[in-house]
Amino acid sequence: MEDYVKNEIKNNRRAIKEDWRELRSIKTDRQLNLERPEMFKQGKPGSMLIELKKEFPNIKQKTLSECIKSRRSLRSYKDQSLTFEELTYLLWETSRVDAYRPGVTFRTIPTAGATNSMETYVFLNKVEGIKQGLYLYVQDKHQLSLIDDSKDLKERVDEALYGQLRGAPVVFFFTATPYRTEYKYAHLSHKMIAIEAGHAGQNLSLAAEVIDCGAVALCAYVQEYCDRLLGIGEEEFVTYAITLGKR
Ligand SMILES: Cc1cc2nc3c(=O)[nH]c(=O)nc-3n(C[C@H](O)[C@H](O)[C@H](O)COP(=O)(O)O)c2cc1C
Repeated sequence: MEDYVKNEIKNNRRAIKEDWRELRSIKTDRQLNLERPEMFKQGKPGSMLIELKKEFPNIKQKTLSECIKSRRSLRSYKDQSLTFEELTYLLWETSRVDAYRPGVTFRTIPTAGATNSMETYVFLNKVEGIKQGLYLYVQDKHQLSLIDDSKDLKERVDEALYGQLRGAPVVFFFTATPYRTEYKYAHLSHKMIAIEAGHAGQNLSLAAEVIDCGAVALCAYVQEYCDRLLGIGEEEFVTYAITLGKR
């Protein structure tokens, strides 16, 4: 292994090996009373908004044990669209916000110090009643906001996923806005930001089982292309992608 790779490994391990006592010896931006970061991303002004339902009469529930037992990464999908209700159900179980007050967010997933570093985007390839496109899930309003519906989108998503779209009807992209957590936890934030995305990935994987779908978590994507796709990159970037579809 080249020396620079060995050094990278050593440095990168630090991000998941922290000493919380360090936080006592510094002043975080929060302690300095700097401006609090935005809690939730909103759609671009004028973008098409879709209101989502909060009830799912046609979703037949399974037990948690059944979902955990049947979960396995699925990389090949039936050529079948998801219903709009199924898509909404996945967003609801994975990314919804239950309650919030300034600087504090409670969601279905745990979020370090309630800082909520994560945003959710979906590429809807085949969902009944909704046009193919890339959407932001506006988490505090339970809405979808259209970002892009250009013709070559599917090809660009596949390229961004390093050829791993595999015909999936739906792709979730989770992003991190690190400053939301850094504001409170400075340089100790990064392990927690990654873990938060992992929690969302697990909720999504299990919710997918409820609707007879399977999912696969993806980290082997092209960072630059994924970020460009979503119009982000510096202060917000993709940390996790999940493709899913019917078995
Ligand atoms: C953080 C993470 C990243 C992953 N990235 C990829 C990926 O890029 N491509 C892929 O095909 N599978 C990926 N996987 C899926 C794993 O390969 C899979 O979980 C593993 O082989 C175990 O199989 P199982 O999920 O069926 O139990 C990833 C899983 C995790 C947890």
